[in-house]
Amino acid sequence: MKPLGLSRRAPAWLEDCVDSTNLVLRRMADEAADGTAVAALAQSAGRGRSGRSFLSPEGGLYLSMLLRPQLNASELPTLTAVAAVAVCRAIEALCAVRCGIKWPNDVVLQGKKICGILVESIWKDDRPCAIVGIGVNANTDAFPEELREIAGSIRQLTGQTLELEALAAALIGELDRQYELWLAERSAALAEYRARCISCGREVLVDGRRAMAEEVCEDYALLVRYDDGTRQAVRFGEVSVRGLYGYV
Ligand code: BTN
Repeated sequence: MKPLGLSRRAPAWLEDCVDSTNLVLRRMADEAADGTAVAALAQSAGRGRSGRSFLSPEGGLYLSMLLRPQLNASELPTLTAVAAVAVCRAIEALCAVRCGIKWPNDVVLQGKKICGILVESIWKDDRPCAIVGIGVNANTDAFPEELREIAGSIRQLTGQTLELEALAAALIGELDRQYELWLAERSAALAEYRARCISCGREVLVDGRRAMAEEVCEDYALLVRYDDGTRQAVRFGEVSVRGLYGYV
């Protein structure tokens, strides 16, 4: 593995291709320090949310970071939100765009998903540890037919080609910063997350049921109001947004 040469508390490597950067860190979790990061230029078995696979061709950047906070499982969603804010900031530091977040953690540009985030938790020595995995469609040139409506790359949408090692460094730097803030105060990223969240004020489908997304709660749940007037704070599950990703 090639070190990224960053000056920080834990090692960070760049690989040409791995099965999944989340899996690489899972295998290293016994010895790896808090903050250890692995980036790859392609993945052969990228993992997505809800047991799906995540297409990971060359042109994208795939990065995972191992975190060992004092955490109980119910706080994981807040870490996911923090990662989404960090990704937006890292991308915006490298190109002149404004990124949004589709709740809970897709990073969106011009209505297309440019990044997916998967946070997985494992137990080590009676302590939970989180693997934050980030897949950015940076310079990806083509998507299969079924993803064309949903996904886009930064290069397709802006014409700008990103230097992937610089993107890895920016992502790690922003994750480090946001993680520090989160350790001190769990709601540190809340105001920014709310400002970036494009789901609020729009019609959504919550596991297939129509509702209005009203606001992001203190714990980053999405408060929705169903057609019959009942409200629910959604913490898990699929939420599609009307007008986005082909939900019309
Ligand atoms: C999703 O949108 O479904 C989440 C996708 C998360 C993909 C990233 S790429 C880096 C890390 N390694 C993986 O195998 N998955 C995550």
